Amino acid sequence: MDTTYQIATQPEDAKQDDSAPVVGLKDLHKSFGTQQVLKGISLTVGGGETLAVLGRSGSGKSVLLKLVIGLEKPDAGSVSIHGQDIAGLDLDRIGEVRKTMGFLFQHAALYDSLTVEQNVAFPLQHHKKEMSKSERSARVKELLAEVGMDGHLDKMPSDISGGMQKRVGLARALALEPDILLLDEPTAGLDPISAAEIDDLVLKLQKERHMASIVVTHDLHSAKTVADRLVLLYQGEIAIEGTFEELRHSDIEFVKEFLKDS
Ligand SMILES: Nc1ncnc2c1ncn2[C@@H]1O[C@H](COP(=O)(O)OP(=O)(O)OP(=O)(O)O)[C@@H](O)[C@H]1O
Ligand SMILES: [Mg+2]
Repeated sequence: MDTTYQIATQPEDAKQDDSAPVVGLKDLHKSFGTQQVLKGISLTVGGGETLAVLGRSGSGKSVLLKLVIGLEKPDAGSVSIHGQDIAGLDLDRIGEVRKTMGFLFQHAALYDSLTVEQNVAFPLQHHKKEMSKSERSARVKELLAEVGMDGHLDKMPSDISGGMQKRVGLARALALEPDILLLDEPTAGLDPISAAEIDDLVLKLQKERHMASIVVTHDLHSAKTVADRLVLLYQGEIAIEGTFEELRHSDIEFVKEFLKDS
């Protein structure tokens, strides 16, 4: 881990609290117009832990991730990163905090007009300006090797498969050595074998890098494979939180219905 960089990206007066969870959400509320999407979500994720967020389409999973990244603001409640509430931060400071997060969006995993190499180089070019071109190029190759995509540097995103696009997206998400990894539907739209490969990759990365990870998914198999703990969103609230086995033994009707194919 590049500790010099870690220190350099800390806001000058950051109130980092090492005893706090890496990600802490407290009583989050978010509405769009009259639609109440999240109605009081509280959860924590610690270093080295992977939390899966499950829920039906439209249940607010992507909104939840956007709140963590600071792309959406909560109507009420707080988002703390290393114990620091991001609500009060100005855009520059949120930008600094965001550099400690790697994310893979649900749609638009990659920039269409950039090659695989340029996609992964992008965060380094913007946030590690001190890196020389040759250092950057070597780092991009390392990152792509980590996700099994070396040898595809000059390809365009449209010329590689969905699973390969997700791999490259993961490499890009890891470029700044994040300690938080946020993945929105990393296996959606993939065939079962490619999905299982992505799950294995997420597990491997998590083992090596010990990040606090949140994986949003409605793929139960994927959640079971990658997550230490799961939460299931229902009508804006957490219907249940626990291990996969705990969810499976739940008596809550909605939980049983949701898990019936698992
Ligand atoms: N910027 C926005 N403006 C208005 N409504 C929004 C906005 N973002 C999300 N919503 C609404 O909030 C609800 C939750 O959306 P969200 O994208 O979080 O669902 P999701 O659980 O990720 O669903 P999916 O599994 O289909 O990805 C939806 O009804 C959506 O239309
Ligand atoms: Mg979504």
